[in-house]
Amino acid sequence: MKKWLCCFLIITSGCQSFGSLEPEQKPSKPPVQVEEPSSEAPIPSSETKEQEELVLEERFWNQIEVQNGVKVIINPDNILALVNKEQQLPADYKPADLVVPNVPFTFKETDVEKRHMRAEAAKALESMFTAAKQQQVLLYAVSGYRSYERQQQLFTFEVQRSGEEKAVVAVAMPGKSEHQTGLAMDITSPSVQYTITPAFGDTREGKWVAEHAHEFGFIIRYPKGKEHITKYQYEPWHLRYVGVKAAKIIYEKQITLEEYFQIVKKI
Ligand code: DAL
Ligand code: ZN
Repeated sequence: MKKWLCCFLIITSGCQSFGSLEPEQKPSKPPVQVEEPSSEAPIPSSETKEQEELVLEERFWNQIEVQNGVKVIINPDNILALVNKEQQLPADYKPADLVVPNVPFTFKETDVEKRHMRAEAAKALESMFTAAKQQQVLLYAVSGYRSYERQQQLFTFEVQRSGEEKAVVAVAMPGKSEHQTGLAMDITSPSVQYTITPAFGDTREGKWVAEHAHEFGFIIRYPKGKEHITKYQYEPWHLRYVGVKAAKIIYEKQITLEEYFQIVKKI
């Protein structure tokens, strides 16, 4: 083998056996090594990333005051307010930033409270409905904000209609409904004749919502199989705005808002 060819092979291949044949060709400097990332700027592992995601600032947790033996949420403007059968909203709570989202509704009346949502949730709902429509998924809003008094009427009506046992898993008692937060919206589609029905979950629209709502900050608040936790029947139509960060975790882990608060760490 010609010497010039050997040199060429040493340089291009880095092969040690050629180096030993021509010791004078060994590089004077040690070979450049790929450095490990410094300890000051470690690349987070997926586990570390998840731990970082699973922290939640104190302001997003319920602050509770026990009033006459009832747990009342005294920071109800919190976008992550956990409203359920255990912890309720003050009777006089009404969000200050209610607006009407620009989405199709199943009814014509314009000046009604059920058309309203809090501003941030309304914007997110508009984005979600627009994205759905682009994929020929037609969604309609049915019922958003409800006052304490309106929820009382609905609960009483449901008890008369179907009895207390059925009513308590279908309609929240006043103060215990997410609709009073202005962060919930019941939705439907033409495929179920614009009704509120569990069958919505099996429609193309219901499936689209279940798969995509989290991208806009919404969760299906009362999922199938979690009735023992939420204490309500499956409601594929009831969307609750919690913001994109929490919604993504709740979707990916297929958990409820109650379970979310079990796994996040308060900071
Ligand atoms: N249907 C839900 C639980 C509500 O009344 O808020
Ligand atoms: Zn609802």
